[in-house]
Amino acid sequence: MRGKFITLEGIDGAGKSSHLVFIAEQLRARHIEVITTREPGGTPLGEALRGIVLNEPMHPETEALLVFASRREHLAKVIEPALERGEWVISDRFTDSTYAYQCGGRGLSENRAAILEEWVHGHLQPNITFLFDAPLAVARERLENGTLELDKFEREQNEFFSSVQSAYLKRAAEFPARIKVIDSARTLDEIRAELGQLLVALVS
Ligand code: TYD
Repeated sequence: MRGKFITLEGIDGAGKSSHLVFIAEQLRARHIEVITTREPGGTPLGEALRGIVLNEPMHPETEALLVFASRREHLAKVIEPALERGEWVISDRFTDSTYAYQCGGRGLSENRAAILEEWVHGHLQPNITFLFDAPLAVARERLENGTLELDKFEREQNEFFSSVQSAYLKRAAEFPARIKVIDSARTLDEIRAELGQLLVALVS
């Protein structure tokens, strides 16, 4: 049986990366084979593109082309083969990030993103997407209190993040069956309880 494809989304600092580990553990406890991966990245070429996208200033369309180039490779080398083998794939970010960051944040036309989406994975969409949604102030504080050096996106102003967040919520309203908005201003236990319920529904 073909595996399922789960993607995690949210503005920087919304906390999605820590929930990725929890989701993988929950599935493995149910004897499901899981691989975890990320975008941009997930392959050696994708990781090289990630270094460029996260550090070099560039035209918004160049940014979109590079994240979709990374995605094409990721689908061909990692995601599709794993799903074919019956493994489940959890990706930290996927195409909703492009609609949020390049369209919402940078003003790329949604039509351009849709053309690339159709080209690169017209046949495939995630089975479920968890959109971690936290108030901007909470997300910014988490980022600024972190120990890692901030990348190009994380150094953007509040206005940029506010546009990214609105674009995410617009996507969630457009695809309510696929995109589950997770209020991540709550406690870890509350968030995990909700994720657990959504996963039970996905597994059964
Ligand atoms: P992120 O996944 O949040 O990594 P970390 O937790 O290590 O900081 O960072 C990836 C950045 O890439 C994030 O700021 C959003 C950006 N991005 C895009 O702009 N477009 C895309 O299509 C993708 C996948 C990511």
